[in-house]
Formats: sequence, structure tokens, C-alpha cells
Amino acid sequence: MKDIQVGLIGFGNIGAGVVKLLRENAAVIRAKVGAGIIMKRIADLDITSDRGVVVDAGVLTTSVDDIFNDPDISIVIELVGGYEPAKSFVLKAIEKGKHIVTANKALLALHGSDIYAAAVRKGVEVQFEAAVGGGIPVLTAIKGNLAANHFSSVFGIMNGTCNYILTRMTQEGADFADVLRAAQELGYAEPDPTFDVEGVDTAHKLAILASLCFGTRIDFKKIHTEGISNISGLDVKYAAQFGYRIKLLAIGKHVDGKIEARVHPTMIPLDSPLADINGVFNAIRLTGDFVGPVMFSGRGAGQNPTASAIVGDLIGLSRSMKAGAGRRMSPLGFLDDTIVTIPVKPMADIISKYMLRFSVLDKPGVLGGIAGALGTYGISIESMVQTSHEVDDSAPVPIVIMTHKAREGSIQKALSEIDQLDIICEKTSFIRIEDNLE
Ligand code: HSE
Repeated sequence: MKDIQVGLIGFGNIGAGVVKLLRENAAVIRAKVGAGIIMKRIADLDITSDRGVVVDAGVLTTSVDDIFNDPDISIVIELVGGYEPAKSFVLKAIEKGKHIVTANKALLALHGSDIYAAAVRKGVEVQFEAAVGGGIPVLTAIKGNLAANHFSSVFGIMNGTCNYILTRMTQEGADFADVLRAAQELGYAEPDPTFDVEGVDTAHKLAILASLCFGTRIDFKKIHTEGISNISGLDVKYAAQFGYRIKLLAIGKHVDGKIEARVHPTMIPLDSPLADINGVFNAIRLTGDFVGPVMFSGRGAGQNPTASAIVGDLIGLSRSMKAGAGRRMSPLGFLDDTIVTIPVKPMADIISKYMLRFSVLDKPGVLGGIAGALGTYGISIESMVQTSHEVDDSAPVPIVIMTHKAREGSIQKALSEIDQLDIICEKTSFIRIEDNLE
């Protein structure tokens, strides 16, 4: 069989990884496909910088049209990132009858519907394993070997940068800003690292995962999204004291005809399998009605793991082309006309346990004021720690309360009332707790 010719748009860190992998592992790829996968053209505005990889003469171009108009190129890899011009490039490649492989979670989370519809009309495939969990083959598993299940939940640590930062804050008491810089230097962070630390990147990935698991299209704007930039060393310390670790968790649940889709710092029990996922590692835990809980973990960011997922998609497409198969499956796994709309539960209606950290003046009646407001909103206290000041009597002291399960709307109302009290020295911090990750 003739070799498969591919084109790459966007020659950054990940693109260089793809070129390196196709070259270094050419023999094993050929042995598995029965043909070579050849990087025919690479388009980027910068074709002179050294990316540390060997590129054959005549491959680099500044014109994407050299890829679109090349009839030998059957697969286009989009690694431009962001919304535009990435979306236009993908739609143009589809219009030209080319299959798409992309790592662009932002694009799929917000504009997936348009892209999938165009691909379906044209009879080409869109593969995006690298968009979620870096090198972890979770999307392929959901669409493939786990496809027989109804899924009730999907939980995950899906941002390598945040997990790296939280791990070093937990293990070394490291400072947030220093660790973020290290994550950027290691090539984990997005070009705009606020997407990482404010939870947006994780929410993009949750939108994709929840769509695949629950057979729906999640409106990205309905995903409640909070990042880790407000997590302090004190939060990490108190969480550990109560037997928990703080992780930035993506949570998707399909319960009673509604979906919970939220991203926020979450306390999980120290003995939970997700609590031991550290550094750049990601983990995704799914529960299917027949398979039960399944967990995937691996490197969630970085050049080599992401290249592994992209080339895995290239191999899958190449095998189908070799077998003469047409389009193998719909982009979301579900047939296109079976995708349904499932309402996303408002955040005020979710039920959770909480750790509340108050900063208060150490004087009579303080605890009564807090407990009274919690009681008014039906919030029951499970346990509590108060640390007294060591030196200065007038300095604020922390009171940390663990609640029983409560409605988020009630917590918000109680805290906004409590934060008005003159005994409160700074805005109260609260972290949601997930004791049961199924
Ligand atoms: N910036 C992302 C992360 C890269 O840190 O996980 C992979 O999407």
C-alpha cells in the first residue's frame, strides 16, 4: 500500500514532537499500519526557527494552501491552538475532503458542533485523543471498548500545570508563582497560563469528555469553572489535617436526567486513588453501568505524551484507509442523530460537603455568630478546628469548619451573610469535598 501523507498546521512544541516521533518510530509505525506515515508538508508563519528536529527539504511552508491543495495529503493535523484561525483551517481542510487530527480542546469545546457537522457532511473523520489527558488514551476507550456502557460519572485531574503546582505546594510548601514558572519552562502550560490556573483548560476537556460519556453537547458556558489561584498554603495544610488532599477536579455526573458539569479545587480523601496522582500526571475515573469504575492515568501534558496521542490517531485513521473503510464512527462515538440535549444542573442545586475557613478576631461570641448563620440556612457542622494566636492578641485567627452535606445555594447565602459580620477579617474561603468518586 502507498504511504499515508499528512500535513501539519502549527509547528510549535507539540508539532516538533510529532515530527520527531514519526521519524524515530517509523519502523514500528510501518509494522503496525502496513504503510509509512509521511509528514509531507508543515505550515507555520515561522519556518526558520530551530525546533530541534530534522525536517526534510521542501516540507516547510508559510502557506496553509500548500496543504489544502495537495491531493496526496489525506490527513491534516491542526496544532495552531485557540479559536481562529484554527477553526477556519479545520473547516477548509474538511471541505477539501481531508481527515482531521487535532489537540485543540478549546476549539472543540466551543465550536465542536460546527466542526463535527461539517465532517459528517463530507464523510471525513475528526480525531482528537490528544485534546484530553495528553498521552492517556481515554477518548478512544470511551468510544471503543467501553462503548457498550451508560456512564454515570466522569471525574478527573485533567490539567498537568495545576496538578504540578498543587503537588509542589502540598509536598514542599512551595510558592504558587515559582511553581507556575517551572511548569511553563517544562512546556506544560498553555500559551496563556491563566487558561490552566483558572480552570478553563480543564473545563474545555470536561466539555469534550462529558459529551462523549453522556451523548450530549455540553454548553461550555454552563460549566461552573474555578481555578487554583486562590488556594493558599493554609488550605492545603488544613485539608491534610482533616484527611484530604486538594486537587483541581473536573466533575461530570449524569443523575436523574440532569448533568452536573463543574471544575473547581476539590478535597478528596487521602486514600482515594486520585489523591496519589501527582506532578504532571493526569487521571480520569469513569463509572459505567456494566464495567463499573475504570481509571486511566498518565502524563497529561508535554511534548512526547501529546505526540504519542496524535500519532495514535494518525495510525487509527491510516489503518481504516488501508482497509478501505469509510468513516468509522461519529466524532462523539454516538450516531449524530442520537445526540440529545440534557440540562446542566444549576450550581446552586448541587449537594456537597464543604471545608469553610474563616479568618476571625479571637473574641467572645465569634463562633456563635458563625454557627448561627450556618444553622439558619440548614447547614450542619461535622467538625471544627480553631487555632489560637501565638503572639499578638489582636491578630486574626483561623476557624476551620467541615460541614455535612449541604446545598451550594445555602452555603453561598450563609457565607455572604457571615462575611458582613465585623468579626470577620477577610473573605471566607470554601472548598468543596467529594468523598465518593463514583
Ligand atoms: N496546559 C495543559 C496542561 C496541556 O497543563 O495540562 C495539555 O492540555
